[in-house]
Amino acid sequence: MAPSGKSEAPHDAQFWEDLYRSREQVFSGEPNGVLVTEAEGLPPGQALDVGCGEGGDARWLAARGWQVTALDISRTALQRAAAANAGIAWVCSDLAASPVPARAFDLVNVQYFPLRHDDGVPRKLLDAVAPGGTFLFGSHDPHDLGPEHSGYCQPDDIVRLLGEEWTVLVNETRPRVSPAPPGTGHTRDTVLRALRTS
Ligand SMILES: C[S@@+](CC[C@H](N)C(=O)[O-])C[C@H]1O[C@@H](n2cnc3c(N)ncnc32)[C@H](O)[C@@H]1O
Repeated sequence: MAPSGKSEAPHDAQFWEDLYRSREQVFSGEPNGVLVTEAEGLPPGQALDVGCGEGGDARWLAARGWQVTALDISRTALQRAAAANAGIAWVCSDLAASPVPARAFDLVNVQYFPLRHDDGVPRKLLDAVAPGGTFLFGSHDPHDLGPEHSGYCQPDDIVRLLGEEWTVLVNETRPRVSPAPPGTGHTRDTVLRALRTS
């Protein structure tokens, strides 16, 4: 879920650290609606939660039997997330600078993560999905965002990276399940759910 009352210009590690330190809690602590809708029926396995923030999605997955690796660039966010330890592997890492194990995860969950066009992270995350696994990407509808977000991927950008080993199950724009956080104009989500068949 998006932080409230904050501009979303391009961010570095310091931006995220400052954001989390600016408030006792930035996100709701609840799982994202896109995750709940799309992953509720999936059989549990290994999951990677990308940009896990304060851990709402990771905890929801762990409570449903997933073995979760939850990764974020912000130590403050991870400290909060790990306070309610649920057998989750919390990893502090800059995805743009770190390798991700290939074909290792039955679910790669990417919710409101700033996926850039130019740093190789989208390819890395697709490669991390195991055969039979799911890549799930939820983002904000670009109509709700300013032009400064043009450097970030939307589902259609990811679809263009998919080879024949992928099947797109969902690629759509839909109303947010939860109300827009105060101070933001986020009313709709863009959602990609893709299955790696081999
Ligand atoms: C908009 S927040 C979304 C948090 C969470 N997925 C949610 O929906 O509540 C994006 C998260 O990605 C993290 N992040 C941004 N760039 C990152 C990077 N290069 N590597 C790892 N984490 C990053 C931020 O610290 C932040 O927690």
